[in-house]
Amino acid sequence: MRENIPWWKSGILYQIYPRSFQDSDGDGVGDLRGIIQRLPYLHELGVDALWLSPIFPSPMEDFGYDISDYIGIDPLFGTLDDFDALVAAAHDFGLKVILDFVPNHTSDQHPWFVESRSSKDNPKRDWYIWRDGRDEGGPPNNWLSEFGGSSWEFDERTEQYYYHAFLRAQPDLNWRNPEVRQAIHDVMRFWLRRGVDGFRVDVMWHLIKDDLLRDNPPNPDFTPDRQPYERLLPLYSTDRPEVHAVVAEMRQVIDAFDDRVLIGEIYLPPDKLVAYYGRDLAGAHLPFNFALISTSWTAQAIAELIDGYEKALPPGAWPNWVLGNHDRRRIASRVGADQARVAAMLLLTLRGTPTLYYGDEVGMPQVEIPADRVRDPFEQNLPGIGVGRDGCRTPMPWDATPHGGFSAVDPWLPLDTNFARNNVATEREDAASMLSLYRALIDLRRKRPELTLGSYRLVSVAGDLLVFKRGYRGQRVLVALNLGGASIALTAATMSLRGRVLLSTFMDRQAETTDGTLELRGAEGIILEPPE
Ligand code: GLC
Repeated sequence: MRENIPWWKSGILYQIYPRSFQDSDGDGVGDLRGIIQRLPYLHELGVDALWLSPIFPSPMEDFGYDISDYIGIDPLFGTLDDFDALVAAAHDFGLKVILDFVPNHTSDQHPWFVESRSSKDNPKRDWYIWRDGRDEGGPPNNWLSEFGGSSWEFDERTEQYYYHAFLRAQPDLNWRNPEVRQAIHDVMRFWLRRGVDGFRVDVMWHLIKDDLLRDNPPNPDFTPDRQPYERLLPLYSTDRPEVHAVVAEMRQVIDAFDDRVLIGEIYLPPDKLVAYYGRDLAGAHLPFNFALISTSWTAQAIAELIDGYEKALPPGAWPNWVLGNHDRRRIASRVGADQARVAAMLLLTLRGTPTLYYGDEVGMPQVEIPADRVRDPFEQNLPGIGVGRDGCRTPMPWDATPHGGFSAVDPWLPLDTNFARNNVATEREDAASMLSLYRALIDLRRKRPELTLGSYRLVSVAGDLLVFKRGYRGQRVLVALNLGGASIALTAATMSLRGRVLLSTFMDRQAETTDGTLELRGAEGIILEPPE
Protein backbone atom coordinates (compact mmCIF):
# COMPACT_ATOMS: atom_id res chain seq x y z
CA MET A 1 0.00 0.00 0.00
CA ARG A 2 2.82 2.36 0.69
CA GLU A 3 4.66 2.17 -2.62
CA ASN A 4 5.50 5.58 -3.95
CA ILE A 5 4.06 7.27 -0.90
CA PRO A 6 6.74 9.26 0.92
CA TRP A 7 7.24 8.05 4.48
CA TRP A 8 6.33 11.41 5.95
CA LYS A 9 2.87 11.15 4.40
CA SER A 10 2.00 7.65 5.56
CA GLY A 11 3.99 7.82 8.78
CA ILE A 12 3.49 9.05 12.32
CA LEU A 13 5.93 11.52 13.87
CA TYR A 14 6.91 11.48 17.55
CA GLN A 15 8.49 14.47 19.26
CA ILE A 16 11.11 13.80 21.91
CA TYR A 17 12.20 16.51 24.31
CA PRO A 18 15.67 15.04 24.88
CA ARG A 19 16.21 16.58 28.33
CA SER A 20 13.24 14.57 29.58
CA PHE A 21 13.17 11.27 27.71
CA GLN A 22 15.82 9.08 29.34
CA ASP A 23 18.88 9.89 31.40
CA SER A 24 21.65 7.33 30.88
CA ASP A 25 24.50 8.97 32.77
CA GLY A 26 22.92 9.91 36.07
CA ASP A 27 22.91 13.70 35.87
CA GLY A 28 19.15 14.11 35.98
CA VAL A 29 18.95 15.24 32.36
CA GLY A 30 18.05 13.01 29.42
CA ASP A 31 20.64 12.27 26.72
CA LEU A 32 21.23 10.56 23.38
CA ARG A 33 22.33 7.23 24.85
CA GLY A 34 19.11 7.30 26.84
CA ILE A 35 17.11 7.72 23.66
CA ILE A 36 18.98 4.78 22.12
CA GLN A 37 17.93 2.63 25.10
CA ARG A 38 14.31 3.52 24.48
CA LEU A 39 14.18 2.90 20.75
CA PRO A 40 12.59 -0.54 21.23
CA TYR A 41 9.73 1.23 23.00
CA LEU A 42 9.20 3.60 20.07
CA HIS A 43 9.35 0.70 17.68
CA GLU A 44 6.75 -1.18 19.71
CA LEU A 45 4.56 1.93 19.88
CA GLY A 46 4.62 1.92 16.11
CA VAL A 47 5.69 5.44 15.22
CA ASP A 48 7.79 6.09 12.12
CA ALA A 49 10.00 9.05 12.93
CA LEU A 50 11.34 10.90 15.93
CA TRP A 51 12.00 14.58 15.97
CA LEU A 52 14.36 15.74 18.63
CA SER A 53 14.25 19.18 20.22
CA PRO A 54 17.71 20.79 19.91
CA ILE A 55 20.74 18.79 21.00
CA PHE A 56 23.48 21.19 19.81
CA PRO A 57 26.01 22.97 22.04
CA SER A 58 24.16 25.71 23.86
CA PRO A 59 24.39 27.86 26.98
CA MET A 60 20.82 26.54 27.55
CA GLU A 61 19.32 29.94 28.26
CA ASP A 62 16.34 28.68 26.26
CA PHE A 63 17.16 25.00 26.69
CA GLY A 64 18.90 24.47 23.41
CA TYR A 65 16.96 26.95 21.28
CA ASP A 66 20.01 29.18 21.74
CA ILE A 67 22.64 27.37 19.69
CA SER A 68 26.32 28.24 20.05
CA ASP A 69 27.60 25.63 17.57
CA TYR A 70 25.40 24.28 14.78
CA ILE A 71 27.56 21.30 14.01
CA GLY A 72 28.20 19.72 17.37
CA ILE A 73 26.36 17.95 20.18
CA ASP A 74 26.09 19.50 23.61
CA PRO A 75 28.09 17.41 26.12
CA LEU A 76 24.98 17.24 28.28
CA PHE A 77 23.41 15.07 25.58
CA GLY A 78 26.54 13.20 24.47
CA THR A 79 28.92 13.31 21.53
CA LEU A 80 28.77 13.22 17.75
CA ASP A 81 29.60 9.52 18.03
CA ASP A 82 26.56 9.04 20.23
CA PHE A 83 24.54 10.89 17.64
CA ASP A 84 25.80 8.69 14.83
CA ALA A 85 25.01 5.66 16.96
CA LEU A 86 21.50 6.97 17.55
CA VAL A 87 20.86 7.52 13.85
CA ALA A 88 22.21 4.08 12.99
CA ALA A 89 20.20 2.35 15.72
CA ALA A 90 17.03 4.26 14.84
CA HIS A 91 17.43 3.35 11.18
CA ASP A 92 17.90 -0.29 12.15
CA PHE A 93 14.47 -0.12 13.76
CA GLY A 94 13.08 1.55 10.65
CA LEU A 95 12.74 4.85 12.48
CA LYS A 96 13.61 8.15 10.83
CA VAL A 97 15.39 10.91 12.73
CA ILE A 98 14.40 14.56 12.34
CA LEU A 99 16.43 17.34 13.91
CA ASP A 100 15.07 20.52 15.36
CA PHE A 101 16.89 23.26 13.58
CA VAL A 102 17.02 26.87 14.78
CA PRO A 103 18.16 29.13 11.94
CA ASN A 104 16.28 32.28 12.97
CA HIS A 105 18.66 33.09 15.80
CA THR A 106 21.80 31.85 17.47
CA SER A 107 23.03 32.09 21.02
CA ASP A 108 24.83 35.33 21.85
CA GLN A 109 27.75 32.99 22.60
CA HIS A 110 27.91 31.71 19.03
CA PRO A 111 31.29 32.73 17.52
CA TRP A 112 29.40 34.41 14.66
CA PHE A 113 27.72 36.77 17.10
CA VAL A 114 30.81 37.25 19.22
CA GLU A 115 32.51 38.47 16.05
CA SER A 116 29.53 40.45 14.88
CA ARG A 117 29.24 42.42 18.07
CA SER A 118 33.01 43.07 18.30
CA SER A 119 33.00 46.07 15.96
CA LYS A 120 30.90 47.85 13.38
CA ASP A 121 33.26 46.89 10.61
CA ASN A 122 33.67 43.25 11.51
CA PRO A 123 32.94 41.08 8.42
CA LYS A 124 30.19 39.33 10.39
CA ARG A 125 28.54 42.56 11.51
CA ASP A 126 25.82 42.23 8.91
CA TRP A 127 25.14 38.58 9.83
CA TYR A 128 22.84 39.92 12.54
CA ILE A 129 20.38 42.81 12.59
CA TRP A 130 22.14 45.89 13.94
CA ARG A 131 20.63 49.39 13.88
CA ASP A 132 21.10 52.80 15.41
CA GLY A 133 18.51 53.92 17.91
CA ARG A 134 15.96 56.57 16.98
CA ASP A 135 17.19 60.16 16.85
CA GLU A 136 15.02 61.00 19.82
CA GLY A 137 16.51 58.05 21.70
CA GLY A 138 15.31 54.51 22.33
CA PRO A 139 15.27 51.39 20.14
CA PRO A 140 14.95 51.54 16.32
CA ASN A 141 11.24 50.65 16.35
CA ASN A 142 8.44 49.35 18.58
CA TRP A 143 8.86 45.62 17.95
CA LEU A 144 8.38 43.37 20.96
CA SER A 145 10.13 40.21 22.04
CA GLU A 146 7.90 37.13 22.26
CA PHE A 147 9.37 36.62 25.71
CA GLY A 148 8.54 40.14 26.96
CA GLY A 149 9.96 43.63 26.58
CA SER A 150 11.51 45.32 23.56
CA SER A 151 13.09 43.04 20.99
CA TRP A 152 16.04 45.41 20.68
CA GLU A 153 19.06 45.24 22.93
CA PHE A 154 21.51 48.13 23.16
CA ASP A 155 25.12 47.06 22.95
CA GLU A 156 27.44 49.51 24.73
CA ARG A 157 30.55 48.64 22.81
CA THR A 158 29.37 49.72 19.38
CA GLU A 159 26.46 51.83 20.54
CA GLN A 160 23.93 50.11 18.33
CA TYR A 161 20.95 47.88 18.98
CA TYR A 162 20.59 44.28 17.86
CA TYR A 163 17.29 42.54 17.23
CA HIS A 164 16.15 39.45 19.13
CA ALA A 165 12.67 38.01 18.58
CA PHE A 166 13.07 35.94 21.75
CA LEU A 167 15.61 36.32 24.60
CA ARG A 168 18.33 38.92 24.40
CA ALA A 169 20.66 35.92 24.51
CA GLN A 170 19.12 34.83 21.15
CA PRO A 171 20.13 37.45 18.55
CA ASP A 172 18.34 37.04 15.19
CA LEU A 173 20.42 36.21 12.15
CA ASN A 174 20.08 38.50 9.15
CA TRP A 175 18.54 36.25 6.51
CA ARG A 176 18.82 39.01 3.92
CA ASN A 177 22.56 38.38 3.93
CA PRO A 178 23.49 35.70 1.35
CA GLU A 179 26.48 34.60 3.44
CA VAL A 180 24.14 33.71 6.28
CA ARG A 181 21.96 31.66 3.94
CA GLN A 182 25.03 29.89 2.61
CA ALA A 183 26.37 29.16 6.08
CA ILE A 184 23.07 27.71 7.26
CA HIS A 185 22.65 25.62 4.11
CA ASP A 186 26.10 24.19 4.77
CA VAL A 187 25.03 23.26 8.27
CA MET A 188 21.94 21.52 6.89
CA ARG A 189 24.12 19.55 4.47
CA PHE A 190 26.42 18.57 7.32
CA TRP A 191 23.54 16.84 9.12
CA LEU A 192 21.91 15.47 5.98
CA ARG A 193 25.19 13.77 5.08
CA ARG A 194 25.28 12.34 8.59
CA GLY A 195 22.02 10.63 7.81
CA VAL A 196 19.30 12.77 9.34
CA ASP A 197 15.99 12.38 7.60
CA GLY A 198 14.89 15.97 7.82
CA PHE A 199 14.45 19.10 9.87
CA ARG A 200 11.80 20.77 11.91
CA VAL A 201 12.65 24.41 11.35
CA ASP A 202 12.11 26.57 14.41
CA VAL A 203 9.94 29.71 14.06
CA MET A 204 9.98 29.56 10.27
CA TRP A 205 7.59 32.50 9.92
CA HIS A 206 10.02 34.75 11.79
CA LEU A 207 12.96 34.30 9.44
CA ILE A 208 12.73 37.54 7.46
CA LYS A 209 11.75 40.93 8.86
CA ASP A 210 10.59 44.05 7.05
CA ASP A 211 13.52 45.72 5.28
CA LEU A 212 12.30 49.16 6.40
CA LEU A 213 11.76 47.98 9.98
CA ARG A 214 8.37 49.67 10.06
CA ASP A 215 6.61 49.91 13.42
CA ASN A 216 4.09 47.17 14.15
CA PRO A 217 0.49 48.40 14.51
CA PRO A 218 -1.41 48.03 17.79
CA ASN A 219 -3.57 44.94 18.18
CA PRO A 220 -7.17 46.17 18.48
CA ASP A 221 -8.18 42.92 20.21
CA PHE A 222 -5.55 43.15 22.92
CA THR A 223 -6.76 42.67 26.48
CA PRO A 224 -4.56 42.98 29.56
CA ASP A 225 -4.85 39.28 30.37
CA ARG A 226 -2.96 38.46 27.14
CA GLN A 227 0.82 38.19 26.89
CA PRO A 228 2.53 41.57 26.45
CA TYR A 229 3.82 40.47 23.03
CA GLU A 230 0.24 40.47 21.77
CA ARG A 231 -0.10 44.21 22.36
CA LEU A 232 1.03 44.69 18.74
CA LEU A 233 0.23 42.83 15.54
CA PRO A 234 3.55 41.41 14.31
CA LEU A 235 2.81 42.60 10.80
CA TYR A 236 6.31 43.78 9.91
CA SER A 237 8.39 41.49 12.11
CA THR A 238 7.00 38.12 10.94
CA ASP A 239 5.48 36.33 7.94
CA ARG A 240 6.99 38.68 5.37
CA PRO A 241 6.50 37.78 1.69
CA GLU A 242 10.25 37.29 1.23
CA VAL A 243 10.28 34.40 3.70
CA HIS A 244 8.95 32.06 1.03
CA ALA A 245 12.08 32.39 -1.07
CA VAL A 246 14.13 31.49 2.01
CA VAL A 247 12.04 28.40 2.64
CA ALA A 248 12.23 27.39 -1.03
CA GLU A 249 16.02 27.54 -0.82
CA MET A 250 16.02 25.31 2.23
CA ARG A 251 13.84 22.90 0.34
CA GLN A 252 16.35 22.82 -2.49
CA VAL A 253 19.04 21.88 -0.02
CA ILE A 254 16.86 19.06 1.26
CA ASP A 255 15.89 17.89 -2.21
CA ALA A 256 19.50 17.28 -3.15
CA PHE A 257 19.21 14.27 -0.81
CA ASP A 258 16.78 11.35 -1.14
CA ASP A 259 13.62 11.10 0.83
CA ARG A 260 14.12 13.86 3.41
CA VAL A 261 11.47 16.06 4.94
CA LEU A 262 11.20 19.77 5.67
CA ILE A 263 8.82 20.71 8.46
CA GLY A 264 8.13 24.27 9.59
CA GLU A 265 7.09 25.53 12.99
CA ILE A 266 4.56 28.20 12.08
CA TYR A 267 1.87 29.69 14.29
CA LEU A 268 -0.46 31.34 11.77
CA PRO A 269 -4.12 31.03 10.76
CA PRO A 270 -4.79 28.44 8.02
CA ASP A 271 -4.87 30.84 5.07
CA LYS A 272 -1.43 32.21 5.94
CA LEU A 273 -0.04 28.89 7.15
CA VAL A 274 -0.63 27.10 3.88
CA ALA A 275 1.46 29.64 1.97
CA TYR A 276 4.45 27.83 3.54
CA TYR A 277 3.86 24.85 1.26
CA GLY A 278 5.39 27.23 -1.24
CA ARG A 279 4.66 28.01 -4.83
CA ASP A 280 4.24 24.69 -6.70
CA LEU A 281 4.60 23.00 -3.32
CA ALA A 282 8.32 23.75 -3.36
CA GLY A 283 8.36 25.01 0.23
CA ALA A 284 7.93 23.04 3.46
CA HIS A 285 6.53 19.52 3.06
CA LEU A 286 4.67 19.96 6.31
CA PRO A 287 4.01 23.41 7.73
CA PHE A 288 2.98 22.32 11.24
CA ASN A 289 -0.74 22.72 11.76
CA PHE A 290 -1.33 23.66 15.40
CA ALA A 291 -5.06 24.36 15.09
CA LEU A 292 -6.01 21.57 17.50
CA ILE A 293 -3.79 23.07 20.18
CA SER A 294 -5.75 26.27 20.50
CA THR A 295 -9.29 25.26 19.53
CA SER A 296 -12.10 25.17 22.04
CA TRP A 297 -12.93 21.54 22.58
CA THR A 298 -16.38 21.34 21.04
CA ALA A 299 -17.64 19.27 18.14
CA GLN A 300 -18.69 22.38 16.26
CA ALA A 301 -15.36 24.18 16.65
CA ILE A 302 -13.36 21.12 15.67
CA ALA A 303 -15.54 20.36 12.64
CA GLU A 304 -15.13 23.95 11.50
CA LEU A 305 -11.39 24.00 11.90
CA ILE A 306 -10.98 20.73 10.00
CA ASP A 307 -13.16 22.12 7.24
CA GLY A 308 -11.31 25.46 7.18
CA TYR A 309 -7.94 23.77 7.05
CA GLU A 310 -8.96 21.26 4.38
CA LYS A 311 -10.36 24.07 2.24
CA ALA A 312 -7.27 26.22 2.66
CA LEU A 313 -4.86 23.47 1.53
CA PRO A 314 -3.43 24.10 -1.93
CA PRO A 315 -4.02 21.29 -4.46
CA GLY A 316 -1.72 18.39 -3.73
CA ALA A 317 -0.55 19.72 -0.36
CA TRP A 318 -0.39 17.07 2.34
CA PRO A 319 -2.09 17.96 5.65
CA ASN A 320 -0.78 17.35 9.17
CA TRP A 321 -2.05 17.61 12.73
CA VAL A 322 -0.44 18.27 16.10
CA LEU A 323 -2.00 17.94 19.58
CA GLY A 324 0.85 19.12 21.72
CA ASN A 325 4.48 20.13 21.95
CA HIS A 326 7.12 21.43 24.34
CA ASP A 327 5.65 24.95 24.26
CA ARG A 328 1.99 24.27 24.98
CA ARG A 329 -0.10 22.91 27.82
CA ARG A 330 -0.44 19.12 27.72
CA ILE A 331 -3.58 17.86 26.00
CA ALA A 332 -4.56 15.69 29.01
CA SER A 333 -4.78 18.82 31.16
CA ARG A 334 -6.24 21.01 28.47
CA VAL A 335 -9.24 18.80 27.76
CA GLY A 336 -9.18 16.41 30.74
CA ALA A 337 -8.19 12.75 30.97
CA ASP A 338 -11.42 11.43 29.40
CA GLN A 339 -11.42 13.74 26.41
CA ALA A 340 -7.69 13.14 25.93
CA ARG A 341 -8.69 9.68 24.70
CA VAL A 342 -11.11 11.21 22.23
CA ALA A 343 -8.33 13.58 21.19
CA ALA A 344 -6.03 10.61 20.56
CA MET A 345 -8.61 9.03 18.30
CA LEU A 346 -9.16 12.30 16.48
CA LEU A 347 -5.43 12.87 15.92
CA LEU A 348 -4.92 9.36 14.58
CA THR A 349 -7.97 9.25 12.33
CA LEU A 350 -7.71 12.67 10.69
CA ARG A 351 -6.39 13.05 7.17
CA GLY A 352 -2.74 14.08 7.38
CA THR A 353 0.46 13.20 9.16
CA PRO A 354 -0.03 13.11 12.94
CA THR A 355 2.65 14.27 15.36
CA LEU A 356 2.62 12.81 18.87
CA TYR A 357 4.29 14.58 21.75
CA TYR A 358 6.24 12.24 24.03
CA GLY A 359 4.27 11.18 27.08
CA ASP A 360 0.86 12.08 25.68
CA GLU A 361 0.52 8.40 24.85
CA VAL A 362 0.53 7.57 28.57
CA GLY A 363 -1.75 10.48 29.38
CA MET A 364 0.92 12.65 30.97
CA PRO A 365 -0.69 15.76 32.43
CA GLN A 366 0.71 19.26 32.68
CA VAL A 367 2.80 19.08 35.85
CA GLU A 368 2.52 21.83 38.47
CA ILE A 369 5.99 23.29 38.94
CA PRO A 370 6.79 24.78 42.36
CA ALA A 371 8.14 28.34 42.11
CA ASP A 372 11.60 27.31 43.25
CA ARG A 373 11.90 24.76 40.46
CA VAL A 374 10.88 26.97 37.54
CA ARG A 375 13.46 26.68 34.75
CA ASP A 376 11.74 28.20 31.72
CA PRO A 377 13.04 31.71 30.90
CA PHE A 378 9.62 32.66 29.51
CA GLU A 379 8.10 32.07 32.95
CA GLN A 380 11.03 33.74 34.67
CA ASN A 381 10.58 36.86 32.51
CA LEU A 382 6.81 37.00 32.90
CA PRO A 383 6.02 35.16 36.14
CA GLY A 384 2.53 34.20 37.15
CA ILE A 385 0.59 34.84 33.91
CA GLY A 386 0.61 31.22 32.84
CA VAL A 387 3.22 31.26 30.09
CA GLY A 388 5.51 28.70 31.79
CA ARG A 389 6.47 25.72 29.66
CA ASP A 390 8.22 23.56 32.25
CA GLY A 391 4.99 21.72 33.06
CA CYS A 392 4.84 20.12 29.60
CA ARG A 393 8.55 19.25 29.57
CA THR A 394 8.75 16.95 32.59
CA PRO A 395 10.48 13.55 32.60
CA MET A 396 8.86 10.59 30.86
CA PRO A 397 7.43 8.14 33.40
CA TRP A 398 8.74 4.72 32.42
CA ASP A 399 7.90 2.72 35.53
CA ALA A 400 7.00 3.00 39.21
CA THR A 401 10.57 3.00 40.55
CA PRO A 402 12.04 6.19 42.07
CA HIS A 403 12.24 8.98 39.46
CA GLY A 404 10.04 6.88 37.19
CA GLY A 405 12.92 4.95 35.65
CA PHE A 406 13.91 8.18 33.95
CA SER A 407 17.03 8.78 36.00
CA ALA A 408 18.96 7.45 38.96
CA VAL A 409 18.86 10.91 40.55
CA ASP A 410 16.40 13.73 41.12
CA PRO A 411 15.62 14.97 37.58
CA TRP A 412 15.98 18.53 36.33
CA LEU A 413 12.19 18.93 36.53
CA PRO A 414 9.87 16.99 38.80
CA LEU A 415 7.83 14.06 37.53
CA ASP A 416 4.07 14.13 37.73
CA THR A 417 3.01 13.06 41.26
CA ASN A 418 0.95 10.26 39.73
CA PHE A 419 3.82 8.68 37.85
CA ALA A 420 3.70 5.48 39.90
CA ARG A 421 0.25 4.80 38.43
CA ASN A 422 0.53 6.36 34.99
CA ASN A 423 3.69 5.05 33.44
CA VAL A 424 4.75 2.95 30.50
CA ALA A 425 5.28 -0.26 32.49
CA THR A 426 1.89 -0.28 34.24
CA GLU A 427 -0.01 0.91 31.20
CA ARG A 428 1.55 -1.74 29.04
CA GLU A 429 -0.07 -4.37 31.28
CA ASP A 430 -3.47 -2.71 31.20
CA ALA A 431 -5.49 -3.50 28.10
CA ALA A 432 -7.68 -0.42 28.58
CA SER A 433 -4.90 2.08 29.31
CA MET A 434 -4.15 5.20 27.32
CA LEU A 435 -0.98 3.53 26.06
CA SER A 436 -2.97 0.51 24.85
CA LEU A 437 -5.40 2.86 23.12
CA TYR A 438 -2.56 4.69 21.36
CA ARG A 439 -1.03 1.41 20.28
CA ALA A 440 -4.34 0.16 18.93
CA LEU A 441 -4.97 3.42 17.09
CA ILE A 442 -1.52 3.42 15.55
CA ASP A 443 -1.89 -0.20 14.59
CA LEU A 444 -5.23 0.45 12.93
CA ARG A 445 -3.91 3.49 11.11
CA ARG A 446 -1.08 1.39 9.74
CA LYS A 447 -3.33 -1.42 8.61
CA ARG A 448 -6.04 0.70 7.06
CA PRO A 449 -5.07 2.77 4.03
CA GLU A 450 -8.33 4.69 4.37
CA LEU A 451 -7.08 6.08 7.68
CA THR A 452 -3.62 6.86 6.38
CA LEU A 453 -4.32 8.01 2.86
CA GLY A 454 -8.06 8.23 2.46
CA SER A 455 -10.33 11.17 1.86
CA TYR A 456 -12.06 12.99 4.70
CA ARG A 457 -15.76 13.76 4.74
CA LEU A 458 -17.77 15.28 7.54
CA VAL A 459 -20.90 13.23 8.12
CA SER A 460 -22.53 14.98 11.02
CA VAL A 461 -21.91 17.53 13.70
CA ALA A 462 -24.64 17.99 16.29
CA GLY A 463 -24.29 18.93 19.92
CA ASP A 464 -21.31 17.03 21.29
CA LEU A 465 -21.22 14.61 18.39
CA LEU A 466 -18.72 14.72 15.56
CA VAL A 467 -18.88 12.03 12.86
CA PHE A 468 -16.70 11.77 9.81
CA LYS A 469 -15.81 9.26 7.17
CA ARG A 470 -12.48 8.28 5.72
CA GLY A 471 -12.47 6.47 2.41
CA TYR A 472 -9.88 4.95 0.11
CA ARG A 473 -10.48 2.91 -3.04
CA GLY A 474 -13.90 1.73 -2.01
CA GLN A 475 -12.98 1.02 1.60
CA ARG A 476 -14.47 3.23 4.29
CA VAL A 477 -14.44 3.73 8.00
CA LEU A 478 -16.69 5.92 10.09
CA VAL A 479 -15.33 7.79 13.10
CA ALA A 480 -17.84 8.95 15.71
CA LEU A 481 -16.60 11.06 18.60
CA ASN A 482 -18.48 12.21 21.66
CA LEU A 483 -16.93 15.48 22.76
CA GLY A 484 -19.18 15.67 25.80
CA GLY A 485 -19.68 13.76 29.04
CA ALA A 486 -23.23 12.46 28.47
CA SER A 487 -24.13 9.47 26.34
CA ILE A 488 -25.52 9.99 22.84
CA ALA A 489 -27.78 7.61 20.95
CA LEU A 490 -27.15 7.63 17.22
CA THR A 491 -29.71 6.34 14.82
CA ALA A 492 -29.60 5.36 11.21
CA ALA A 493 -31.77 8.35 10.35
CA THR A 494 -28.68 10.48 9.94
CA MET A 495 -26.14 7.96 8.74
CA SER A 496 -25.51 4.38 7.94
CA LEU A 497 -24.59 2.72 11.19
CA ARG A 498 -24.53 -0.88 10.18
CA GLY A 499 -21.16 -2.39 10.63
CA ARG A 500 -18.50 -3.62 13.00
CA VAL A 501 -16.76 -1.64 15.71
CA LEU A 502 -13.04 -1.65 15.01
CA LEU A 503 -12.11 0.29 18.11
CA SER A 504 -13.64 2.18 20.99
CA THR A 505 -11.67 4.61 23.11
CA PHE A 506 -12.86 2.48 26.05
CA MET A 507 -11.15 -0.52 24.43
CA ASP A 508 -14.08 -2.81 25.14
CA ARG A 509 -16.31 -3.00 22.06
CA GLN A 510 -14.01 -4.46 19.45
CA ALA A 511 -15.92 -6.67 17.01
CA GLU A 512 -19.30 -5.55 18.31
CA THR A 513 -21.71 -5.24 15.39
CA THR A 514 -24.35 -2.59 15.00
CA ASP A 515 -27.57 -2.88 13.07
CA GLY A 516 -28.59 0.71 12.70
CA THR A 517 -28.29 2.19 16.16
CA LEU A 518 -25.29 2.99 18.20
CA GLU A 519 -24.90 4.40 21.66
CA LEU A 520 -21.80 6.39 22.46
CA ARG A 521 -20.97 6.72 26.12
CA GLY A 522 -19.76 10.06 27.47
CA ALA A 523 -16.33 10.86 26.05
CA GLU A 524 -16.37 7.81 23.84
CA GLY A 525 -15.05 7.63 20.34
CA ILE A 526 -15.50 4.69 18.04
CA ILE A 527 -14.23 3.64 14.66
CA LEU A 528 -16.78 1.65 12.70
CA GLU A 529 -16.29 -0.46 9.62
CA PRO A 530 -19.36 -0.65 7.39
CA PRO A 531 -20.37 -4.07 6.02
CA GLU A 532 -19.30 -5.42 2.58
C1 GLC B 1 10.19 27.95 19.17
C2 GLC B 1 10.47 26.84 20.14
C3 GLC B 1 10.47 27.38 21.52
C4 GLC B 1 11.58 28.41 21.61
C5 GLC B 1 11.40 29.49 20.56
C6 GLC B 1 12.62 30.32 20.42
O1 GLC B 1 8.92 28.47 19.32
O2 GLC B 1 9.54 25.82 19.95
O3 GLC B 1 10.66 26.39 22.48
O4 GLC B 1 11.61 28.99 22.88
O5 GLC B 1 11.17 28.94 19.29
O6 GLC B 1 13.64 29.59 19.80
